[in-house]
Amino acid sequence: MSEQLVLTRIEGAVGVLTLNRPKVLNALSNEVMQALSEALLALENNENIGAIVLTGNEKAFAAGADIAAMKDWSYTDVYKSNYIGGYWETMKNAIRKPVVAAVSGYALGGGCELAMMCDFIIAADNAKFGQPEIKLGTIPGLGGTQRLTRAIGKSKAMDMVLTGRMMDAQEAEKAGLVSRILPLENFLDEVVKVAQGIASLSVPTVMMAKQCVNTALETTLEQGLQYERRVFHATFATEDQKEGMAAFIEKRPANFKNM
Ligand code: CAA
Repeated sequence: MSEQLVLTRIEGAVGVLTLNRPKVLNALSNEVMQALSEALLALENNENIGAIVLTGNEKAFAAGADIAAMKDWSYTDVYKSNYIGGYWETMKNAIRKPVVAAVSGYALGGGCELAMMCDFIIAADNAKFGQPEIKLGTIPGLGGTQRLTRAIGKSKAMDMVLTGRMMDAQEAEKAGLVSRILPLENFLDEVVKVAQGIASLSVPTVMMAKQCVNTALETTLEQGLQYERRVFHATFATEDQKEGMAAFIEKRPANFKNM
């Protein structure tokens, strides 16, 4: 039986997805992306899940697209297969639950790009990020020139993309690529705790909040503010808003029902 490329584990209301090609530092392929899509969709459609964590192993989150597999491909090979993950943007929009990237070790090339597709990145203190494609005679192909520029600004994105150098967790946090750094020891457990905290909130409201933040990257400020206000108003149609505010006034923990 062939090895599973992506492993799924359920921890309470959190689905943990682990990339599983350790011998090649979790190098990505269309097959990996397909397996990841299926695993993500299964969690999205699972009523008991409120948040998702995507991770690799201590040495590598993912060291990029599979160089050995693609090195001899022609233009038509990569074009016809829409390499790597051409369908991924549609897929990404289908996942409305929050996805946290737990990055330890290398997140390079497609690995860094995959982490950036998640809603936020928590890095272990040994994490290293980079877009080294230029050293291979190619360029990032999964959002590295676009999402990285939006995340850390033009000057630093140019530095990363044109030199192919790596940045460590501290530099990545300072630049705004990662939201926080946690020690490597117990790293995944701690990230899962963060995700469990999110999953304990009102899942539909969390999904609305995620959509609003993502809208900020796609619209003008005025349109984004209008959208946010409408969604804020819409939360008042939920039972969870009534429960959350009542719990605050009554000085007790809220018991959200996801309604
Ligand atoms: N593709 C295929 N195999 C890879 C790989 C990749 N991206 N990255 C690592 N591997 C393999 C290595 O070939 C090696 O296999 P063997 O044991 O069979 O030789 C194994 O994983 C372990 O790697 P190393 O021996 O190189 O480990 P290291 O600790 O010495 O170095 C590293 C680690 C610095 C991450 C180095 O492996 C490396 O530079 N990897 C390539 C990084 C890269 O260039 N990524 C960009 C890919 S292109 C891309 O991603 C395009 C896109 O935007 C979609």
